[in-house]
Amino acid sequence: MSDLAYREFNPLKPLHHIDRLRVLAAGGDIAPVTIEIDPVAYCNHLCAWCVDPVHHHTTMSERFFGALVDDLKTAEVSGFKVQGVVLKGGGEPTLHPAFGRLLEAAAARFAVGVVTNGSRLQRWAQALASHATYVRVSIDGPTPDSHRLVHGSRDFNAVLAGVRALRASRHGRYPTLGLSFAIDVRTIDLAERAIELGDELGVDYVLLRPPFFEEVGRAPTMSPSQAREVRQLLAQAASNYQGEMLVQVGNWIGDSEHRLGDRTLVSTGRRDTQVINQLPVEHRTGRCLASPILAVVAADGMVFGCCNLRALPQWSFGRLDYGAGICFSSVWNGAQRREVLARMHRTACIGHCTHPLSRYNDIVETIKFGVGYHTEFV
Ligand SMILES: C[S@@+](CC[C@H](N)C(=O)[O-])C[C@H]1O[C@@H](n2cnc3c(N)ncnc32)[C@H](O)[C@@H]1O
Repeated sequence: MSDLAYREFNPLKPLHHIDRLRVLAAGGDIAPVTIEIDPVAYCNHLCAWCVDPVHHHTTMSERFFGALVDDLKTAEVSGFKVQGVVLKGGGEPTLHPAFGRLLEAAAARFAVGVVTNGSRLQRWAQALASHATYVRVSIDGPTPDSHRLVHGSRDFNAVLAGVRALRASRHGRYPTLGLSFAIDVRTIDLAERAIELGDELGVDYVLLRPPFFEEVGRAPTMSPSQAREVRQLLAQAASNYQGEMLVQVGNWIGDSEHRLGDRTLVSTGRRDTQVINQLPVEHRTGRCLASPILAVVAADGMVFGCCNLRALPQWSFGRLDYGAGICFSSVWNGAQRREVLARMHRTACIGHCTHPLSRYNDIVETIKFGVGYHTEFV
């Protein structure tokens, strides 16, 4: 059995950031652990439920990217520094014409993760094998037809060839290589095939999950009860698997599902009702204090405080402009961020929330609560 679940995916990983979380609980500020940088704002696939709210023809210049990673390397807030960079969003990062050089520049300063639709993997396999710490390939449909259904593209075989090329090029454990599958009611019968595909390709893990809909501004392709059934079937497919590879099932439950029957997200004023409903911490407390642990720099240089708010202008902290001397620290410490962060703190952005930081918010809230119940007993 793979040890990935105890290392890279260890659920206790947030403990490594406990110092930052204590500062946030005390009302202070920190530098993000991870910054997502969008090399481009466009994509060559057409996933109808894409989490990116907008695509446009913006390419981050190589010069800006170089200045940005230099800037991030020296940025320091309350003694904390950036540790990792993720190239995933805004569109398809590997479409950047100089993707290999961007990767190298980022990896010279930080650990780098890449999330890709795999369409350019053959081209960049060597660069990724040399510089990435992880690569996650979003396949979503494990057959040519289902892949075309979700991605609207005809490059399934090229994606698989790219995964094979990367697998063959990597040295040792890294980059960790995984396949992700957002699966809905139309493709649920292929869940076991998705796992088999991961096994055949020799990747480290497969992630199966139902897609987000309303939270990312997309029309649902299934009802809340179908989503619940899909999650159960995904869990079943994962438990049927007896091989070495790690199979993860996303435990995401959308807000529309929380509204099932008499369960409601509307605050009743009775905290116990909210707790019984097992709502994400951001709903229970109406607070999100952990967001500074992550930030996003979009292809146009705009800085955002959450991956779910990327490219939504009303949530921008401001734009980096090295020519005008506006660096990451100026934006991070600026008045615009303070105003937006205050709204994020009180979850005015909850309608966009896929709860990426719930685990971190749970820890911040526990620290903030001050009194520990039964902490005298192990
Ligand atoms: C928006 S994509 C951007 C990166 C790259 N273009 C790709 O396809 O991986 C980032 C990740 O979000 C996933 N994704 C997109 N829309 C989603 C949704 N509605 N629900 C869950 N995951 C989604 C994709 O499968 C991919 O793993």
